[in-house]
Amino acid sequence: MVSQAADANSKLQDAAERASELRQAILRHDGLYQSGTPEIPDADYDALIRELFALEEAHSELQTTDSPTQKIAGWASDLFTKVTHAVPMMSLDNAFDEAELSEWHQRILRLLGAKARQDALFGDGEAGGGGDRGAGEESESATIELGGFVCEPKFDGLAISIRYENGRYARAATRGDGTEGEDVTANVATIQSVPRQLTGAAPAVLEVRGEIYLPISDFEEMNKQREEEGLDRYANPRNTAAGSLRQKDPAATAARPLAFWCYTLGEHEGTPDFAGHSDVLEYLKQAGLPVNDQWKLCADLAEVKEHLAEAERTRHDHDWEVDGVVVKLNSLAHQQQLGVTSRHPRWAIAYKFAPEEKSTKLLDISVSVGGKGKATPFAELEPVFVGGSTVQKATLHNEDQVRLKDVRPGDVVVVRKAGDVIPEVLRPVLAERPKGLPQWKFPETCPCPLAAPLTREEGDAAHYCTEPQCPSQKWRAIKQFASRKAMNIEGLGEEWIRKLVDAEMIEDAADLYSLDYDALIEMDGFGEKKRDSLREQLELSKQRSLGQLLFALNIRH
Ligand code: IVH
Repeated sequence: MVSQAADANSKLQDAAERASELRQAILRHDGLYQSGTPEIPDADYDALIRELFALEEAHSELQTTDSPTQKIAGWASDLFTKVTHAVPMMSLDNAFDEAELSEWHQRILRLLGAKARQDALFGDGEAGGGGDRGAGEESESATIELGGFVCEPKFDGLAISIRYENGRYARAATRGDGTEGEDVTANVATIQSVPRQLTGAAPAVLEVRGEIYLPISDFEEMNKQREEEGLDRYANPRNTAAGSLRQKDPAATAARPLAFWCYTLGEHEGTPDFAGHSDVLEYLKQAGLPVNDQWKLCADLAEVKEHLAEAERTRHDHDWEVDGVVVKLNSLAHQQQLGVTSRHPRWAIAYKFAPEEKSTKLLDISVSVGGKGKATPFAELEPVFVGGSTVQKATLHNEDQVRLKDVRPGDVVVVRKAGDVIPEVLRPVLAERPKGLPQWKFPETCPCPLAAPLTREEGDAAHYCTEPQCPSQKWRAIKQFASRKAMNIEGLGEEWIRKLVDAEMIEDAADLYSLDYDALIEMDGFGEKKRDSLREQLELSKQRSLGQLLFALNIRH
């Protein structure tokens, strides 16, 4: 039998050989590229770089100062320094229904009509238009030829600006406040879909803007792993992507499967003269940049509306989160005439999808007791996929809300989930209510083993458990204390807190700081690694701000 040490040694040797092969290949392809005779597609070159990165990350003894990956390490020294955007990164105005979209459409017609009139009066023939100059704005605006709209998915990720100089990846920055962002060059360089060099075109400067995101399938995979390790689930792909990008060590970002879609230009020099936004998208795609192919050039507003309906219907058919459609006037000349307000361009609008609703069975109504003793009813649902995630529980807030909505265990109910928001039970489907289904009554006692009375004071909508020793309150208060927004004690999730409370090793959060580590290590599933990381996390938590501490202690009233 081969010993473990011998096995590890042979693995290291294989890795060393592969790393050396990769370095030689990368250097050779660098030379070929620089002399204008590349042999392999850029994507293959990028794959070589990433493989080397992964090897050096897994075996730090293989890192050499002359490795091509050291360029990324060099960029890392600039991580998070401020970067001023030469062209500001603006946000978008929103439309929440078709009426608001039509208003936006009318507004641009009016503005362009006014501009055309002005140009006609003062002799600038550039803009189209013409028509009956004496007439009111509305009838005149109808003669403006808008030249179509580009509809694109509105990706729910992190806005980023990536700069290429002479076709080479040069810098990446977050949006920040729109004027000034943070340098994330080293981290973004590790993202597979961000090419390190452009194909064909090599303009002097090309800043592309787009969205960094975490594919939904990878997000779910990461959460599965976290659950197996007894860690809390990540809340949603966007926040997880943000956390992945803000790693101090680029190798940590490289280990996360982030991806990128680009949708517009920032500063650019030496690029062709584009007539429409659709030409920009085609050009970016030709240059080897990842342009999502779900965009559509629509001739008029009616076609835009048709596309919106289709996009909304298929919103969950993708491996990335979409929360609407961005509608952009295609003509760049018209875009320029319309200009921008202080916050957003007038030529584009984000049409937001309505929060999704689905019906499912209400299996039961249970009550959970929070850290302050507050007893909150919640719906236990037959799992239903809504708003981008599977929902099994939804809050019902309090007794009055349950009564007002008249939802009863056994009902089919309508559930709504919008983005990050907590899922909500809207109403019962009365047509499907079984005959004689009884109304739900608020339980008189706490669900914990002490079964203390739940009381509701006059003028208060909530019930409270009055028993200070209630274990439901104990572990919840500690969970709140350890949570990310409070003391952020990584690795101390609900499962472990409950175990520690049940084993009577802790009674309250203060006990965490005098844990008996020898007893802890005896607990099933704990181990030295977990002990050391918990000890380190607790040490770190002592440096949290006063604000975090106050939140962590969650004092009622
Ligand atoms: S265009 C000047 N296109 O949504 C206009 N933005 O809520 C620049 N976003 O800040 C933005 N998908 O981060 C544009 N297809 C898309 C987009 C998109 C997502 C983000 C972007 C923007 C935010 C506004």
